[in-house]
This record gives sequence, structure tokens and C-alpha cells, in this order.
Amino acid sequence: MNDKTSELAASIRSIPDYPKPGIIFRDITTLLGNARAFRRAIDELVQPYAGMKIDKIAGMEARGFILGGAVAHQLSAGFVPIRKKGKLPHDTVRIAYSLEYGVDEMEMHRDAVQPGEKVILVDDLIATGGTAVGATQLLRQIGAEVVSACFVIDLPDLGGRKKLEELGVDVRTLVE
Ligand code: PRP
Ligand code: ADE
Repeated sequence: MNDKTSELAASIRSIPDYPKPGIIFRDITTLLGNARAFRRAIDELVQPYAGMKIDKIAGMEARGFILGGAVAHQLSAGFVPIRKKGKLPHDTVRIAYSLEYGVDEMEMHRDAVQPGEKVILVDDLIATGGTAVGATQLLRQIGAEVVSACFVIDLPDLGGRKKLEELGVDVRTLVE
């Protein structure tokens, strides 16, 4: 780990047994509240995509909204919210998915991305990959090109990164 990534890692709080016994919850609210760490995280997430003419950033509810909004701004791209079911008012596409501590359904507006548009997924963390795989499937279903997916945190033991890469998605993460 270099100095930059160890500073980022140190800004993330770990909470044992949340939301269920046995889970170590990686809490990014401490990173977000630290101006220097927040800026650094966004700068590092954006850096590989400079000059790539990305059309849209898709952010997964809820933490992907915060990071994805900032990444979209930096890349002059649009922002597409991928939400938990029942929150979006217009015509949606929906998919069920599982994550480290449960199952849920997510959806996005059917007209949020045009066929062929280049999209990058943004979230705070990849664990089992259930959320990111579901989001990739939704985006592909409406014809988007999922160019890459980026996360501040990778939990490699849970295998999510590998699953996403097996789907042909380029994956970028900042700390393990
Ligand atoms: C967390 C995290 C990712 C997802 C990763 O969100 O922000 O979206 O879990 O887990 P996975 O790789 O196993 O799918 P969560 O569903 O807890 O939602 P929240 O941000 O609304 O709390
Ligand atoms: N999402 C899935 N697993 C998580 C973890 N361990 N910490 C924070 N968010 C998560």
C-alpha cells in the first residue's frame, strides 16, 4: 500500500457485527467527512477515465449516489441512479440480487441510458458483487455499454471483483 492508499484506508471506519453478527461493516461516512480523503478518493476514482468521453455514471443506492455524483461532475458525465425497488416514479427495469447480508431488488428508469451509451458504475464497496452484477445486467438490458466499474473498497475474499470481471467488466478499486 502506498501513502495515498494507506491514508484512504485509515479514513474508513470498521464496525464489527453490523448489520449482522460476523459482518465487519466498512463505514465510509468517516472518509466522506474528511475533506482531504474525500477529494483524494474522487480524484483517484476519476483518474483512469480522463479523456474517455463517458456518457453516464450509474450510482448504486445509497452510497454510490454520493461518490457517483462527484465522479460524474468531474468527468462531465450525466448521472443515473440505480435504486432499491419502488422509489423511481417512471417506467423502470428491475432485477433481484443478493448481497453480503441479504437479498433485495433494484431498478432504474428504462429511458435513463440510450443504447450504445458508455456507462461507468460507481459504488463505495464491492463485496459479493451481487449489487454490481445486478446493475451491470440492468444496464446491458437497456443497451448500455458498461465500460468499467469502480469502488473505493474491495473485499476480495467475497469474490465480487472476479464475478464482475468474468462478465467482461473492467474493475478498478482503491483499497482492499
Ligand atoms: C452496500 C454497498 C454496495 C453493496 C456491496 O450497499 O454500498 O452497494 O452493499 O455488496 P455486494 O458486493 O455484496 O453486493 P447496501 O445494499 O448495504 O445499501 P446502502 O448503501 O443503501 O446501505
Ligand atoms: N456491503 C456489503 N458488505 C459490506 C461491508 N462489509 N461493509 C459495508 N458495506 C457492505
